[in-house]
Amino acid sequence: MLKCFYIFKDKSRSRRRGESAPELSNESRRDGNSEGKRVAKSTGSVSSARSIPEMYREKEQNLRVFSLSELKEATRSFNRMLKIGEGGFGSVYKGTIQPPNGRGDPIVVAIKKLNTLGLQGHRQWVAEVQFLGVLEHPNLVKLLGYCATDGERGIQRLLVYEYMQNRSLEDHLFNRAVPVIPWKTRLKIILGAAQGMAYLHEGLEVQVIYRDFKSSNVLLDEDFNPRLSDFGLAREGPAGDRSHVSTAPVGTLGYAAPEYVETGHLSVKSDIWSFGVVLYEILTGRRTLERNLPVMQQKLLDWVKQFPADSRKFSMIIDPRLRNEFSLVAARRIGKLADSCLNKIAKERPKMSEVVQILTQAVQESEETTSLDITGPGPSRPTQLASPKQQLKKTIAETARPMRPIAQA
Ligand SMILES: Nc1ncnc2c1ncn2[C@@H]1O[C@H](COP(=O)(O)OP(=O)(O)OP(=O)(O)O)[C@@H](O)[C@H]1O
Ligand SMILES: [Mg+2]
Repeated sequence: MLKCFYIFKDKSRSRRRGESAPELSNESRRDGNSEGKRVAKSTGSVSSARSIPEMYREKEQNLRVFSLSELKEATRSFNRMLKIGEGGFGSVYKGTIQPPNGRGDPIVVAIKKLNTLGLQGHRQWVAEVQFLGVLEHPNLVKLLGYCATDGERGIQRLLVYEYMQNRSLEDHLFNRAVPVIPWKTRLKIILGAAQGMAYLHEGLEVQVIYRDFKSSNVLLDEDFNPRLSDFGLAREGPAGDRSHVSTAPVGTLGYAAPEYVETGHLSVKSDIWSFGVVLYEILTGRRTLERNLPVMQQKLLDWVKQFPADSRKFSMIIDPRLRNEFSLVAARRIGKLADSCLNKIAKERPKMSEVVQILTQAVQESEETTSLDITGPGPSRPTQLASPKQQLKKTIAETARPMRPIAQA
């Protein structure tokens, strides 16, 4: 896991309340969104576009409020055996809750228990509840409810999500104990992730900047459909024709756009950069930083520059675990797309809807051509792109264990 970096100027005015419905700190109304009327992003005209907290107020009843004892019961007191992951902010457990009306089968869920909360932890928890309470898309994780108690034993903040059987894209790309994800599945995953992000950037009355796009935040259901998770760092985009909001840089090193790290100027184009990084992870099967490799190969983005997408050398960077079972035409297209997402000039990067279009084309090309090794000598063996579900299910069951990706910086 790459660590999130958190450099906060902050000083917030957010409140904490026992058993309360979440309230967003004032952060989202500072910086870019504070002045005057909101402006509808599509038309540029002054309108009554609502903020996320406003939309949340209309939808909050859709979320279940759990008591701590319910969630203790669901996880057998947060039993270590039920722990399925750990991130920078807390641990994730598999659990079983009762259906809302008490009737029907128990529901399998993932419960994230935040570590002892600092102010920032609380703020992220609130942001997560409010964004996921409002956003609805097949490629975003479903938040079922939350728990908030400020008892004698301290502050407790938990989140209850639908359970995603195949964990994260990161687990599948980099954990050698997990079978390789076939080419077409990789494309399907990245296309779905792009559709989720296009919804955030372009499909709502407010623009949402995700700010934490990385392979560990792309969760996979039993059919390897992707859903974006972790909205604790999400922000509303700038109002009107402003290009960015200004904020202390937070996110994950290795994925954050350079201009954002350097200046704190945040825009949807910062997400596009992170998307470009993940495109190269998918192509190469390498992490953004691989400390165990020779120095020249350690930084993914530097290394791939030596193998341009339209050169003969390009196929040398493709994940060897794919064993040539990929479409080189589509891979080149994705390499070029990644390069455009990684343009140093933020405004030159494509829009997410354009990314979706190009990936859709790449999916089609992969349907038409199976294995194409046009740079190497002779064709590789015919591709039998077996159903990923068939291939993977067995091995996942065999390797059931606490899934921790290989430790990283
Ligand atoms: N809804 C879920 N269903 C199944 N597994 C999940 C779910 N949410 C999280 N996980 C698992 O828990 C792991 C940890 O998730 P978490 O979001 O806490 O940390 P992270 O994304 O790895 O890192 P960071 O804290 O830097 O974002 C994930 O990589 C995934 O394997
Ligand atoms: Mg995460």
